[in-house]
Amino acid sequence: MFGRALLYYHKGGAMPSIRIANTGSVVETDMVMSILVSLQRSGVPILTSCGGKARCGKCIVRIVKGQELLSRKTPNESSRLAALGAGGDMRLACQTYTKGDIEISIINLMK
Ligand code: FES
Repeated sequence: MFGRALLYYHKGGAMPSIRIANTGSVVETDMVMSILVSLQRSGVPILTSCGGKARCGKCIVRIVKGQELLSRKTPNESSRLAALGAGGDMRLACQTYTKGDIEISIINLMK
């Protein structure tokens, strides 16, 4: 029940959305599904190779809007981002969750 309540608190029941700036598409998400899983479930071709374990860094995205709505970085994510030399507006999609509408740009979008 608690999990369900978390899913539907946003805007009176609507699911949070992720707008992808470099494709123009919009996908729905929720607080228990990472950005990466949300993108994959919607068929967005984002490159990954570690299975969402914060190891490959290929799922890196730039947060265009909504940085304040995101989950905190885990130590593993912070470490990988530092190793990649990523800026403060970058996150690993496999380690990041959002509680509201955001906009991202996918760095490794498969063509
Ligand atoms: S999928 Fe490998 S770091 Fe996110």
